[in-house]
Amino acid sequence: MHIVDVNSIGFSFGEEKVIDDISFHADKDEFISIVGPSGCGKSTLLRIIAGLIRPSKGKILFMDREVNGPTLGISFVFQDFALLPWLTNIENVKIGFSMLNISEEEKDKRAEAILESLGLSGFENSYPNMLSGGMKQRVGIARALASDPKVLLMDEPFSSLDELTADTLRSDILYQLKNENLPVNSVIMVTHNVEEAVQLSDKIIVLSGRPTNVKAIMKVKMEHPRNRRSRAFTKTIDEIYSVLTK
Ligand SMILES: Nc1ncnc2c1ncn2[C@@H]1O[C@H](COP(=O)(O)OP(=O)(O)OP(=O)(O)O)[C@@H](O)[C@H]1O
Ligand SMILES: [Mg+2]
Repeated sequence: MHIVDVNSIGFSFGEEKVIDDISFHADKDEFISIVGPSGCGKSTLLRIIAGLIRPSKGKILFMDREVNGPTLGISFVFQDFALLPWLTNIENVKIGFSMLNISEEEKDKRAEAILESLGLSGFENSYPNMLSGGMKQRVGIARALASDPKVLLMDEPFSSLDELTADTLRSDILYQLKNENLPVNSVIMVTHNVEEAVQLSDKIIVLSGRPTNVKAIMKVKMEHPRNRRSRAFTKTIDEIYSVLTK
């Protein structure tokens, strides 16, 4: 059984075909990146996997069950954080519990623990606009992790952050995935950053321009932490660029 099965997905806006036919799967402990030209439909594909948009054809399976809408066990991290400015940070995290049937007291306890684990103790009752970009994204990640998801979907989660902040958050996500005691089993990330994809991924899905198809699925088998200056690393980057631009 795969954790996520993307099964012959197609998608059109009216007459306009955006996604032609895309299939791949995510297995346990796999970090998957999706790269492709701007406007090819990456965000649309990720939203289909999340159950936020219905595909025109094909289906998404999560642990062998068809995804028909927002699904407990699949969480989303947004590029622009998507925090609600009128809610405090802890209230934003508690939105992540909306599909869980637990008491208010339990929600507070768990949300505090998650914020603490992400280095945000002391910021529970302040508002998102008082946080730096990196801290806002930590709240976004905390909200996504609140429901103990098996699958984390991320749409360019680090692209608006400075490189140092982005790198710390990348390690945090990798830790969530590779630690056996934590629930996250698979991560699927859309990114424009090929270096980031090679640093994190076990598998890179390279998409073509519209209407989008899978151009290549490239496996990356290097130990973590990966050395960006190593030959294997730069060679993999070159390979991906050559597929992207072919
Ligand atoms: N509501 C909409 N109505 C019509 N067309 C849309 C709509 N939303 C997106 N599109 C089109 O669908 C295509 C795919 O959009 P999508 O946002 O998924 O691309 P993307 O690969 O994520 O792009 P980027 O790399 O710039 O984020 C785009 O060409 C866009 O113009
Ligand atoms: Mg996009």
